[in-house]
Parts: sequence; structure tokens; C-alpha cells
Amino acid sequence: MSPDICDSTVKPLTVNDLASMKKRGEKISCLTAYDASFSALIDKAGIDMLLVGDSLGMVVQGHKTTLPVTVNDMVYHTRCVSKARRRAFVIADLPFMSYATPEAAAKNAAKLMQIGGAQMVKLEGAHADIISFLVDQGIPVCGHLGLLPQSINQLGSYKVQGKEPAAAEKIIADAHQLQQSGAGLLVLECVPAALAKEISVQLAIPVIGIGAGVDCDGQVLVLYDMLNIGIVKRPRFTRNFMQDAATIEDAIHAYHQAVKQAQFPTPAQSF
Ligand code: KIV
Repeated sequence: MSPDICDSTVKPLTVNDLASMKKRGEKISCLTAYDASFSALIDKAGIDMLLVGDSLGMVVQGHKTTLPVTVNDMVYHTRCVSKARRRAFVIADLPFMSYATPEAAAKNAAKLMQIGGAQMVKLEGAHADIISFLVDQGIPVCGHLGLLPQSINQLGSYKVQGKEPAAAEKIIADAHQLQQSGAGLLVLECVPAALAKEISVQLAIPVIGIGAGVDCDGQVLVLYDMLNIGIVKRPRFTRNFMQDAATIEDAIHAYHQAVKQAQFPTPAQSF
């Protein structure tokens, strides 16, 4: 049987649907996915967005960081994921150094969309110039602020960002700048819950948190962390959803429900 699922009764979510969800106060659920089988399972559970994250470098390829991930790796996994999804919105990460110039960013984003089937690309950092260049070419972009895993060699460790007032102000200013440059979504990683709440309230675009408290417009987790099958230590901001689940499907469904009902994350998984 072909892995392509062609069901004309299910309409894939669009960037407008996600914006409407924020407007009506409906939380947006998102999980990372890297292959067709998990993509289909996550989609079936009703999760709103699938992020083909460059975290695949760590959880699939076994690297210590996300830096070795290539554009070709991302295209391959994005294609696997987008073939099997029916409703969920598909976002793909632009990997390390693939968006160093606007031209490189556009060329690589085009590959993720044309070959991979992504509906949006995500890039890390306050790169308003790159984002507006991509948006001008008709490429939807998701920004990513807070902890930036691709900058691990500058950061030294995976630690909470924006704890000091000056650092928090910088993240708020960057978030506004990304929105102004045309970003359609923003991922906030590992920042204090109060800061994430402030940004989520101030921005018109949906803000998706990971380690950023319950008041973001949506939540994302690395799939292998929430299934407790990571090869590295599970970060504090995740939850083992397999603990009370009989099957993987049940665990994903429980995560989806917890996000929709603002029951995840709790203060125990927040900073
Ligand atoms: O690569 C990834 O999985 C991500 C999430 C951690 C947001 O960027």
C-alpha cells in the first residue's frame, strides 16, 4: 500500500487556521515527527502541528548536538512526514548554517517546501532580515527565540534564557521584530513562564512554548522525550506521557488533551 494518504474529506490546517485558533483562545498542540509512521499516528490523534525538528540529529542520528544535520537530512525526513499526514500543519527546521544569507535561506527553504512538502520553515534567532526576505518570496516562517540549540557552542549549555531583566527585554524586542518582519509563528524555548506569557499576550501571532510555561498559545515537545525513549536525559520541562498510557497512541492523545485543556505544562515543568 502506498504511504501517501489521500483523503479528500480531511483538509490540512493552514497558517490562517492557526491564527484563528489563537484569536479564539484555543491552544495549539504540536509534536516533533521524523518519519511516516509517527506522522500518521500523531495526525490521527488530532495534534495540530508536526514539527520536523533538527532535534532529529540527536534523537534519530545519535549526534551530541543538532549542528551536524544537513539540508538533505531535513528534506528527507520532512518528505517522510508530510507524505503521511492528513490534517496537521507541517513545519520543517532550517538546519545550522543553511540560512546564513537570505539567498541561501530561500534556496534551502524552497527545497524543504518543494521536495519535502513543508508548509512553513523555522529558523533560530533574531534574523528579521532573513525572515522578511523569505516572506517576500511567499515562504511562511516560524521564528525561534529563547534557548537556541544551534548556538550551543556559544551558550556552553542548554540553560534557561531571559532570566535577567535585560535578557528578557531583548527577547521581547526580538519577538516584536520577528512579527514585524512577517513571521507567522514563534517558538519560545526554555524561558521563564512569566516572560513567555507577556510575549504571548503582546504578539498577534501564535506563540508555541517548549519549557515556557502554560500561558503560551500552544505547546511543542520532542516526541521521543514525551514517550520517554530518549537516549539522553529527559529535560525537566517534558513529561513522560507513557507512564499512564497503555499504548503510544494513548500517550499522544493524552498529551493532545493536556495541551488543549491547559493542563500541560504544570509549574513543575516550567521555569
Ligand atoms: O528541533 C526541534 O525539535 C525544535 C523544538 C525543540 C522546538 O526546534
